[in-house]
Formats: sequence, C-alpha cells, structure tokens
Amino acid sequence: MKKNIKVGIVGLGAYIPKKILTNKDLEKMVDTNDEWITTRTGIKERHIAASDEFTSTLAFYAAKEALKNAKIKAEDIELIIVATVTPDMQFPATACLVQELLGAKKAACFDVSAACAGFVYGIVMAQQFISTGCYKNALVIGAEKLSAVTDWKDRNTCVLFGDGAGAAVLSSVDNGGILTSYLGSDGALSELIMVPGGGSKKPASKETVDEGLHSIKMRGNEVFKLAVKIMSDAACKVLKQCELSVDDIDCFIPHQANKRILDAVARKMKVPEEKIFFNVAKYGNMSSAATAVALCEAYQSGRIKPGHIVVLDAFGAGLVWGACVIQWQK
Ligand code: ACO
Repeated sequence: MKKNIKVGIVGLGAYIPKKILTNKDLEKMVDTNDEWITTRTGIKERHIAASDEFTSTLAFYAAKEALKNAKIKAEDIELIIVATVTPDMQFPATACLVQELLGAKKAACFDVSAACAGFVYGIVMAQQFISTGCYKNALVIGAEKLSAVTDWKDRNTCVLFGDGAGAAVLSSVDNGGILTSYLGSDGALSELIMVPGGGSKKPASKETVDEGLHSIKMRGNEVFKLAVKIMSDAACKVLKQCELSVDDIDCFIPHQANKRILDAVARKMKVPEEKIFFNVAKYGNMSSAATAVALCEAYQSGRIKPGHIVVLDAFGAGLVWGACVIQWQK
C-alpha cells in the first residue's frame, strides 16, 4: 500500500436553511432578551430547517456545491463521511442517504458521531484513507438539524443552536495539504452535554417524551471553562507538531460555539482577532456543521489564499476535540 500521499481540500460548499430565528423572535418564546444572548454568546440569529428538510437534505445541498467547486462528479467520489449528531434516523447512516441523493454509486459511506468536533474527525479520517492510497478522494460533510433536538422551552440551551451543513472534497495535492492533526476525547465528561433518550439505554417511550429526554441537556457553565482550555491546548499541540507558531497562522477557524469562548481562546493563545474567522453571530452553534461552514465562508470570502496556514479547532459533546493544520495548496 502506498503511503504519505499529500491530502488537501479541493472543494468547499455550504447550505444554510432559509428561515431565520432572531433573538427578538426568541424573546416571544422563552424568558430571554437580545441583550443577554448577545453579550453572553455573541449570537444574533440562527437558521432553522423547514419541516421537509432533514440533515440529509442539508448535507446534500452543501455536498453538491463542494463537488461543483472541486470539479469532481458525484459518481467519481469514493468515500462519503457525514459527521452529525442529528442523523435522519438511527440507521441507516445519513451518509448512505446522501449517497443516494447525489448518485454517488461508487462511494463507501458511514457517519461519524463526534458532535461539534465531527467535521475535524471526518477530515482526519478521510485523510488517512487517501494518504494510504485506499481511496483517491472523499467527501466530508458536517450537517445538523439541531432544531429537531432542541427544547424550545429551555432558555439555557434553545438560544444557542442552529441548523446548517458544510462540505469539503478531499483529494491528493502536489503541495501543502493537511500537515498534521490531533484528535482527543474524555468520556468521563460525557454527562456535560447529551440527548439522553432515544438510544438503547432509554428507548423512546411515553415516559421519555414526558420527561423531555429527547432534547439537548447541557451544563453550559462547566462546558464553557473546559472548552477554552481544550481548544487552546489542541491548537497549540498541532502547531507544535509541525514546528509552527501562532505567528504563522493566517486563518484560525475555531468551532463557532460562543463568541466569548472564542475570545477567551484567542486571549489564551495570543492569536490576533483579525486572524480568527467568526460567523457565530449569524448561525449560532451548528455543531459539526459549524467548522465546515466557517471554513467554506472563510475561503469564499478570500480570507484563505494559496500557501496560507489554516488551523481548524473544535470540541463538543463526548467530550471530544480535534484540531488540524492545513497549508492551502498553491
Ligand atoms: N436568557 C436570560 N437568562 C438566561 C438565559 C437566557 N437565554 N440562559 C440562562 N440564563 C440565566 C441563568 O438562568 C442564570 O440565572 P441565575 O443566575 O438567576 O441562575 C444566569 O443567566 C447565568 O447563567 P450561566 O449559565 O452562568 O450563564 P453563562 O454566562 O455561563 O452563559 C452559556 C451560559 C451561554 C450556555 C455558556 O455557559 C456557554 O456558552 N457554554 C458553552 C456551551 C457550548 O459551547 N456547548 C458546545 C457544545 S454543544 C454540542 O456539542 C452539541
């Protein structure tokens, strides 16, 4: 088996559902206000998928754009990884449903459950398959319909999340590409963020519905403190692995969970604000889709140029985390 083929991102796409839910709209639903949400999270609005749009639908539109930008036909894609914690159903994998929508008959397909770090996990997994020569290319999609697992009566969580999808096509590149990566997890912290019902432990029943166990439960304050440490440690670790420093970063793309978390990470790492890409104000936290959409928007807005050093850095329920350094190919 061939080894160490350079792997880069050769096409990006995103899809955001049309319906916008503003902080003002939320004021009518729970005891909250625009000022609290803005100062505590930096979020102004989020998008909500229509009732006939599912995670696979959002993923499909993002993937179509990424394939078009990569100039690769769906039928030539060899691997599809969908990172999601809101699959259309428990099984089959949402990746298989996306395969069918795209007509990507040749692809092997599976889902990754790594919450907000799912897109970074997916990128690193796809890289392994391509760098060993197993597959020539891969489509990695971060897609979420978090509105389906949001408790719209819980002000502690409902103000935070939104729906969307981002996709990347990975392939071999002549120069640059993914330089290094680091994935980690700590299952001892699994109780901090979860959807407790609907799995094999608490299958759906009248009781689980009555107890509200099918929506996100989160100990936000504890997550906040851990997120700052985990994200800054992970980013510093990948930079060190490829003998780069914070000064070498051209574009830092952290998981868009909360502007305050990102500001604290920036302060801890001493990354200047102008190097960080933010879009949390427009979309809220879209879990695995957040980093994917941010990467796509950073590229499409000209923030990422050939030769640039780009750092992706994410954390989420698990807890899990992941970071990687990409040198954008020339
Ligand atoms: N509007 C008004 N008041 C509110 C709201 C709201 N929407 N939500 C909570 N409050 C109140 C609380 O009830 C509390 O009131 P009290 O003091 O009377 O008890 C007060 O505001 C302060 O609450 P805290 O929880 O201490 O507020 P904090 O500053 O920590 O902000 C937040 C909360 C925004 C959730 C923050 O902790 C956070 O962002 N945590 C990280 C969440 C995260 O990033 N998760 C990512 C993973 S998600 C995944 O993997 C799918």
